[in-house]
Amino acid sequence: MMKSFLFLMIFLVVALAGNFNKDFDITWGDGRAKILENGQLLTLSLDKTSGSGFRSKNQYLFGKIDLKIKLVPGNSAGTVTTYYLSSIGSSHDEIDFEFLGNLSGDPYILHTNVFTQGKGNREQQFYLWFDPTKDFHTYTILWNPQSIIFSVDGTPIRQFKNLEASGIPYPKNQPMWIYSSLWNADDWATRGGLVKTDWSKAPFIASYRNYNAQACVWSSSSSSSCTSNSSTGNSWLSESLDSTGQSRIKWVQSNYMIYNYCTDTKRFPQGFPPECSLN
Ligand SMILES: *[C@@H]1O[C@H](CO)[C@@H](O)[C@H](O)[C@H]1NC(C)=O
Ligand SMILES: *[C@@H]1O[C@H](CO)[C@@H](O)[C@H](O)[C@H]1NC(C)=O
Repeated sequence: MMKSFLFLMIFLVVALAGNFNKDFDITWGDGRAKILENGQLLTLSLDKTSGSGFRSKNQYLFGKIDLKIKLVPGNSAGTVTTYYLSSIGSSHDEIDFEFLGNLSGDPYILHTNVFTQGKGNREQQFYLWFDPTKDFHTYTILWNPQSIIFSVDGTPIRQFKNLEASGIPYPKNQPMWIYSSLWNADDWATRGGLVKTDWSKAPFIASYRNYNAQACVWSSSSSSSCTSNSSTGNSWLSESLDSTGQSRIKWVQSNYMIYNYCTDTKRFPQGFPPECSLN
């Protein structure tokens, strides 16, 4: 059924090795965000006055988005670096990576969430198996009609399946932009807000490279949006976790997951959200 639905629509599928000048706008930060090296490198900066951020020029309806990020090194406590897809409005959809900084030598937390039709509350948090401030690492959001898969250096860490058949809303009608930002959140980010940002260490800088989108560009001027190219080029549109992926996700979840809303009995005394038993 999903296939025939897709074939009905008009589309533009792109696979692009990105250029930050071409594909993104710096949206805030008054000069604190910089595109360098002819569009190959982007840096965000945060100081006491402001953070900074950027957004894709295009809106997408489904995509596989890779971004290499090198997080704020040293004492990054209180800072949050985000990388997410989001639509707009009160019933928006959103797929989030957020990197919560920490004192030198203490681990970042990778915080993830999925919003559907304005409702989130689906947090899962992880430690990473490497120091994310030493080198660039690839963070991938795969969003296709069957599932959303978050990956780190090709290792899937989280899956949110399309469970519409069980009455759980799935993002598939609202186009999303790609966003990223670096900002101060020392009221909650590090050890729940206990550790504050040390402004004597500012400016804090996060760096980005190798943006790559295999995605469907959405356009408001065409009556419809986007679909599969029936030839070989778009395997991401039907990509799902194979058995290796399944076992990688289990490895990450048993060794690096530090919070899962689906096991938080205090928060859901009446029972877990329905997707918890199905994902
Ligand atoms: C920061 O380090 C502390 C101590 O190791 C740890 O409990 C916490 O989860 C780390 N991450 C954040 C973002 O607070
Ligand atoms: C389908 O994808 C292939 C490989 O990416 C590409 O060469 C071809 O032009 C695409 N066809 C359409 C109709 O977009």
